[in-house]
Amino acid sequence: MSKFTAILGAAVLAISVSGTMTTSAQADEAKLIKKGSKVFKKCKACHVATEEKNKVGPHLVNIVGRKIAAVEGYAYSDASKAKAAEGLVWDEANLAAFLEKPRKFLKGTKMAFGGLRKEKDRNAIIAYFKSVATKKEEAPKEEAK
Ligand code: HEC
Repeated sequence: MSKFTAILGAAVLAISVSGTMTTSAQADEAKLIKKGSKVFKKCKACHVATEEKNKVGPHLVNIVGRKIAAVEGYAYSDASKAKAAEGLVWDEANLAAFLEKPRKFLKGTKMAFGGLRKEKDRNAIIAYFKSVATKKEEAPKEEAK
């Protein structure tokens, strides 16, 4: 084997090794997102996550990092409005806590949903929300302060 072939071989090996690592991390993420999209079926009767369309519940476009009760024109409960006045943001921790036990996290909420008891389901649905948010071509405009 010539020196050149050896170097080329090493380079190809290095590329394929790093390539494989990226692919498996991406595959894990893709699996989690796919699982999340399935978990989201439990919410679909009341929520849309890919379009700014309200059903029984407010739309969930860009929900991760969104302020609570931020959809204009949606009639939130007093419980949601009170939290909005406190400045609550749906970061991942708050979302996970709410989705585990909605009525415990948000006493008086009008969201009639028992909760996602499995941590894996909560992680998966949050990954799904993030994936549909980043896929959106245009993020909703920042509200003027
Ligand atoms: C039976 C209908 C129903 C189901 C099922 C439901 N929700 Fe809701 N959801 C609501 C309603 C109604 C509200 C408004 C709550 C309020 O103002 O108290 C809400 C509010 C929310 C909010 C807060 C939105 C905001 O703008 O502050 C999030 C996040 C949310 N739901 C996520 C989910 C997820 C995720 C699921 C599925 C695992 C789900 N919901 C299932 C009806 C539902």
